[in-house]
Amino acid sequence: MSKAKVRKKPDQFKKSYEFWSDWYDWLADLFSFQLIKASKEVHLSSLNRDDRVLYPGMGSGQEMVAAVRAGAKVTGIDISPQMVKKAKNRLANSGWQVELCESDVKEHLRPCFYDLIAAHYFLNLYRKDEAIIVLRRLAEQLKQNGLIVVADFAYPGKNPNDALTHIYYWTINLIGACLGLAKLHPPHDYKEYFSYVGLHTVKSQRIGFGKGPALFQVWIGRKD
Ligand SMILES: C[S@@+](CC[C@H](N)C(=O)[O-])C[C@H]1O[C@@H](n2cnc3c(N)ncnc32)[C@H](O)[C@@H]1O
Repeated sequence: MSKAKVRKKPDQFKKSYEFWSDWYDWLADLFSFQLIKASKEVHLSSLNRDDRVLYPGMGSGQEMVAAVRAGAKVTGIDISPQMVKKAKNRLANSGWQVELCESDVKEHLRPCFYDLIAAHYFLNLYRKDEAIIVLRRLAEQLKQNGLIVVADFAYPGKNPNDALTHIYYWTINLIGACLGLAKLHPPHDYKEYFSYVGLHTVKSQRIGFGKGPALFQVWIGRKD
């Protein structure tokens, strides 16, 4: 009897992030005028010493250094070996206790374990339905009263100013989709998604230049 081969479907984004790993941070800083970096740092003010913190799809772990310095017990996950290597190099020789995993976020399951999950620029890889499934999985891993912080592209409101938020979002999303870094989809409204998965929004902060349109946004949700 011939043996049937069971092939595991490769993750849809792994190859692209491997390819772009050397350029990713540089490009993100360039096209966001450093605002992405600023948005990823917002969660640091919600961290307490000894908190268990998860970074799903951590990339090169830019913002993890400050979290570890603040005394958090950090776990970072990424599916791209190159990204994990970069995070390791960033945190090497620090003597800090950091757990870095090369794996699929969807397979990482520690129910009610983390005090804070910083899901930055990760859920936007997916279309709405899949983003909600992944968000639900992340919410399961939060302790009661734990926080999830999502830094991502701003959700455009109804203000005429927000036309620019739309234009910026769709330009970047289209380029990202062509490069295989994200699916093509409308902007995500995480306040709405939080309500589907048992989280309530405690804060939302829009990030842009002065009184200009917001380009990025940070949502903070709590598990009740
Ligand atoms: C847009 S980047 C964001 C990186 C980082 N969070 C940041 O804000 O700079 C998305 C990251 O998610 C990783 N990724 C994609 N799918 C993944 C999955 N299923 N499990 C774990 N990591 C994944 C990619 O390799 C990439 O490093």
